[in-house]
Amino acid sequence: MIKKTKKIDTALIGCGYWGTNIARTLVNLKKKSFFVFDENHSNSKILESRFPKNIIIEKKINNIFKNENIKNIILATPPIKNFALIKKAIKCKKNLFVEKPGLKNFSDINKISTTKNSKTLMFGYIYIYNNYINYIKKFIENKKNGKILYIKFQRQNLGPIRNDVSVSYDLSSHDLSILFYFLNKLPKKIKENSYPILKKNLPDISNLSSRIKNIYIDINNSWLNPDKVRRITIITSTKMLLFDEMKDKEKIKIYNKYAKYPKMSYFDSKFFNTKAKIYHGKNYSPVVKSNDPLKDELRHFFKCVKTKKNPITDINFAKKILKTLKKIN
Ligand SMILES: NC(=O)c1ccc[n+]([C@@H]2O[C@H](COP(=O)([O-])OP(=O)(O)OC[C@H]3O[C@@H](n4cnc5c(N)ncnc54)[C@H](O)[C@@H]3O)[C@@H](O)[C@H]2O)c1
Repeated sequence: MIKKTKKIDTALIGCGYWGTNIARTLVNLKKKSFFVFDENHSNSKILESRFPKNIIIEKKINNIFKNENIKNIILATPPIKNFALIKKAIKCKKNLFVEKPGLKNFSDINKISTTKNSKTLMFGYIYIYNNYINYIKKFIENKKNGKILYIKFQRQNLGPIRNDVSVSYDLSSHDLSILFYFLNKLPKKIKENSYPILKKNLPDISNLSSRIKNIYIDINNSWLNPDKVRRITIITSTKMLLFDEMKDKEKIKIYNKYAKYPKMSYFDSKFFNTKAKIYHGKNYSPVVKSNDPLKDELRHFFKCVKTKKNPITDINFAKKILKTLKKIN
């Protein structure tokens, strides 16, 4: 049993599916002890049974906010609950990490005021801390790889099924965060086709289509799918890239393949076949050192707390994503 709690500077609120992953990662990051709170006490107990040496259950949430030794709070709670918790944490001058998507309503994020002297406020858009995504960002930015024409995101699985937000609000927040990271822009208009199958007004399958300048974008999300799919396809004018996160090896494959209509003058086109041609070259899988994105994300949070630097996925980053999500929900 841990007795000395004075030195414990971190608390995790929300001990569900993702809170469990965060707790495991805190232990991996050598956070010997941390407080946990869940409004469903049995979830705190389950988490405690998994990490008995590290977890101290707090039964009253206000004890976490009032405890001056606790400097950092991590929220792994449903977005519908987060606004009240964020306001309280900021009022109590805590450094705060909020799991994606962050908030249920875009208007709430504008009510969160931060100043230069504010404590760290970071949002958990985990893919920004994923080495494969960082590799693909460099691929996109390298002009030698051709002009980007099309990006498709596929994120499907059976569950977790949420009841406070739709599938696109939950899952496309990942894809939009990656898109914003890649292009530094998000689409102004989005067409949505979504299907509320299990419950009225809460889509379980969603297809978003949009465009940023001349780049076409599709985002397919489902929590009602027999297998787990996590893929990004990128088509450029000279190459194709496929990122299949579920593969054990060669997660990224780059195809030196492309299709193009031959350039024709008016005179030529009357006499020759104008079909598009397909070009094939060598394909390869780049060597990318895989990392533990959650570990690197939380490491980034604690580093920002220490150095007082702004996190990559700060409130302005979250605002961009939530503003785009507002267009579809
Ligand atoms: N980064 C990722 O890849 C990733 C993956 C899954 C979930 N998430 C995010 O994590 C958050 C939680 O998702 P989850 O799958 O763990 O959900 P979950 O339902 O499994 O767990 C949420 C927990 O929060 C508790 N809770 C609810 N309101 C609370 C409150 N006011 N105070 C304290 N505890 C409260 C619930 O009792 C539950 O134990 C969501 O924002 C979700 O989008 C992120």
